[in-house]
Amino acid sequence: MTDAEQNELIQAALEVQKRAYCVYSNFPVGAALRGASGRIYQGVNVENASYGLTNCAERVAIGAAVAAGEKEFTAIAVASRTGVTPCGACRQVLAEFAPKLEIVMVDSLKPTEIHRATLDQLLPGRFEGPV
Ligand code: THU
Repeated sequence: MTDAEQNELIQAALEVQKRAYCVYSNFPVGAALRGASGRIYQGVNVENASYGLTNCAERVAIGAAVAAGEKEFTAIAVASRTGVTPCGACRQVLAEFAPKLEIVMVDSLKPTEIHRATLDQLLPGRFEGPV
């Protein structure tokens, strides 16, 4: 990913983070996922009064992309006020479609603070199916 592509992805994650539905945690998260086509798909966390039904921003972005017809991805940017890494459940869902995904974590309070990792680094030895 070029610096320009990374910046574009980060901006898309920061922009969508503002639309998070996080009335219970007050912890908005925005995700921007780059498809193999180059298109960007955005997601936010969508919480629920039954807390366990919450969807993370990363999985919402995957759903938007798959619904739009894209199933291969190169990178994702995740924006939150502490620059969190994707949760374990999201890592497994991302691995389904993009085992070589580049992950960029950005702190929305200090947007120059960027950390990068690969999915292989964040989810080694993952479950790859029953066969
Ligand atoms: N959350 C995400 O959207 N993505 C992550 O990678 C970590 C956590 C959301 C879930 C919940 O709405 C809030 O952050 C606090 O856990």
